[in-house]
Amino acid sequence: MDTSTIVILDFGSQYTQLIARRIREFNVFSVVLPCTAPLEQVKKLNPKGVILSGGPCSVYDADAPDADVGVLAMGVPVLGICYGLQFIVHHLGGKVVGAAAREYGHAEVTVVAETPLFRGLPGSLDVWMSHGDEAEELPVGFHLTAKTSNAVAGIADEARGIWAVQFHPEVAHTRQGMELLKNFCLDICGAEQDWTPEHFIQSTVERVRAQVGTGHAICGLSGGVDSSVAAVLVARAIGDRLTCIFVNNGVLRKDEFQKVQTTMREQLGLNVVAVDSSERFLAKLAGVTDPEQKRKVIGNEFIAVFDDEAKKIFEAEKSSGEEIAWLVQGTLYPDVIESSSVHGPSHTIKSHHNVGGLPADMKLKLIEPLRDLFKDEVRRIGRDLGMPDDIIERQPFPGPGLAVRILGEVTAERVAILQEADQIVVDEIKKAGLYRKVWQSFAVLLPVKSVGVMGDQRTYANTCAVRAVESEDGMTADWAPLPYEVLRTISSRIVSEVRGINRVVYDITSKPPGTIEWE
Ligand code: XMP
Repeated sequence: MDTSTIVILDFGSQYTQLIARRIREFNVFSVVLPCTAPLEQVKKLNPKGVILSGGPCSVYDADAPDADVGVLAMGVPVLGICYGLQFIVHHLGGKVVGAAAREYGHAEVTVVAETPLFRGLPGSLDVWMSHGDEAEELPVGFHLTAKTSNAVAGIADEARGIWAVQFHPEVAHTRQGMELLKNFCLDICGAEQDWTPEHFIQSTVERVRAQVGTGHAICGLSGGVDSSVAAVLVARAIGDRLTCIFVNNGVLRKDEFQKVQTTMREQLGLNVVAVDSSERFLAKLAGVTDPEQKRKVIGNEFIAVFDDEAKKIFEAEKSSGEEIAWLVQGTLYPDVIESSSVHGPSHTIKSHHNVGGLPADMKLKLIEPLRDLFKDEVRRIGRDLGMPDDIIERQPFPGPGLAVRILGEVTAERVAILQEADQIVVDEIKKAGLYRKVWQSFAVLLPVKSVGVMGDQRTYANTCAVRAVESEDGMTADWAPLPYEVLRTISSRIVSEVRGINRVVYDITSKPPGTIEWE
């Protein structure tokens, strides 16, 4: 199957992922490569068109991101966006200069020439701009297609098949941005709208089957949507030759260890080895209070347990003449982008241990069937695979689990207290029909004790913070304005049902400046 593909070359813009997402929303497959990708790699994907993204630099910066100019002469249409426009102008003989005034935010653009890129759009566009440089002289063959009151906003050389805009069609603030991207991908590039979940499932299953051949694969399950969908897809391809490993790290949600096993085995028919290592993890966590240290301890311990189990499976298979050569991971597109961005991995705010972490000496080859997808796309695939809603709709849960929601030391007792409170939050949010509306909702156990009164008794117990946020991708988030009634029920249930908590507070911090998790 040959899916129509649009390649996006990433020059470092914070919006690059959005371009891919918008295009896939109208069922055209698009993939992002770093701008430094060799031309051969771009050609191999046989793209219908290429988009050059925006970026934070000036073309004159010493470390300005560069791409092989050959992409402009590949014979497929090219669309430059923001820095992409300047890249085109600079490399094809025009002139880019520093603008007298930086344009940032809303702008009004006037269309000054008829071009297929603006077909069906009004003569005046409400757009989002973010640039310091601007095009002063256009390269030979180019003409102006749109402008703002003081700068070039669109150019084209239709004979060469090159279009460019100074604004960002991919952000929601650009009202007709989606139409513009459709004009480019569908009309100008002639891409088919053939990227559907069924298509994705079928081609992935075929690819994995061919890749793995008669080999065996292992997969670490977390109970979350990503690893489960990855496992189900691979199991479709190779059946019982996939063994899943599910580790109880002692900081899972209440009853999760049992529930996940049941769902995975009985509802999804997966071959699961479940390992209860909670004591081992909790022993290693004793006395650890630093958040990053907790992540490290859990990450390292997970790899050690996984390694032991993988070796056992490996030995068993080997004695039956088979070899495990593959490791399945539910890596998503945003994870890939973080680690391959033109400026290297972004500054570590929190280390996320679920990316990487291969047992070092096993020389396993990776299968990452979801590495081109966003979370909502993974959910779509899961639904089409017939997976149950309680997995597909599960809110994200961090790899280090409740450990990063217990401020201070993690002990078995404190885990048990938080499990109870957490269960009440999730329960009530579900009952109120809000579970799918909010991105994450959970409880945090604070190392703060306060005085209360219960019956005629004075209490002196822990404080619990409730956090519920709305978000599209976890990168930015806003605290959710939960109805007072829901907050009231959550608070009174926690205080009366959870021994050890006598006060509940609600977290009203957005991200940024806060993060979603407290640690
Ligand atoms: P923050 O707290 O950085 O979280 O705003 C953003 C998203 O990432 C999740 N998160 C993690 N996931 N390992 C994970 O697998 C981690 O160490 C980790 N820390 C945060 C968090 O739940 C939210 O969805």
